Amino acid sequence: MPDLIEGKERYFIRRMREADLAAVREIEVLSFSNPWSVNTFRGEIQNTGVSFPLVVVSRPDEEVVAYIIFWHIREDVQVNNIAVHPGRRGLGLAEAMMRYVIAKTRAAGAGFMTLEVRRSNAPALALYQKLGFEVLGTRKNYYTKPDEDALVLALVLDQ
Ligand SMILES: CC(C)(COP(=O)(O)OP(=O)(O)OC[C@H]1O[C@@H](n2cnc3c(N)ncnc32)[C@H](O)[C@@H]1OP(=O)(O)O)[C@@H](O)C(=O)NCCC(=O)NCCS
Repeated sequence: MPDLIEGKERYFIRRMREADLAAVREIEVLSFSNPWSVNTFRGEIQNTGVSFPLVVVSRPDEEVVAYIIFWHIREDVQVNNIAVHPGRRGLGLAEAMMRYVIAKTRAAGAGFMTLEVRRSNAPALALYQKLGFEVLGTRKNYYTKPDEDALVLALVLDQ
């Protein structure tokens, strides 16, 4: 039985599967100027043990509406991708996914969570700051289409 996102019985979260890839790629294309390919997502699904690709599914229509992909290696968690379908934004889904991952990885012994974000991505930055992330530094011209710096954000989990 997949875990419910707390307080949101209309949605549940579970591991991403091959059958989700078309819906995931559609959200990815709507969300990023330089989207991941289907094969990149497939690689994450197959990278069991290190990568945790999760999808949020709506009820009762069973539609994939959001996803988050993170790597968990010993104490370190790296969030590599997160997106919500444009039609489902502003409902608290990204915050619920992040809180779910923070709770699960903290309970599994992780100590530190990091991620990169475009400097201009105000919605994502507001989300991470709300969750307590702090800016660790900058990666110059990390992104393309358009070229832009990444801010490296971090959250200490073991406190
Ligand atoms: C960033 C993104 C994941 C947020 O998803 P969401 O489900 O709409 O966000 P939530 O409804 O959970 O919002 C949680 C918090 O995020 C921040 N936030 C979300 N959307 C925002 C917006 N448009 N403007 C400002 N802050 C915003 C707010 O702090 C919000 O808390 P609040 O409701 O108390 O103000 C979504 O906009 C998205 O998919 N963007 C494209 C992909 C992307 O940029 N991913 C991040 C890459 S690092």
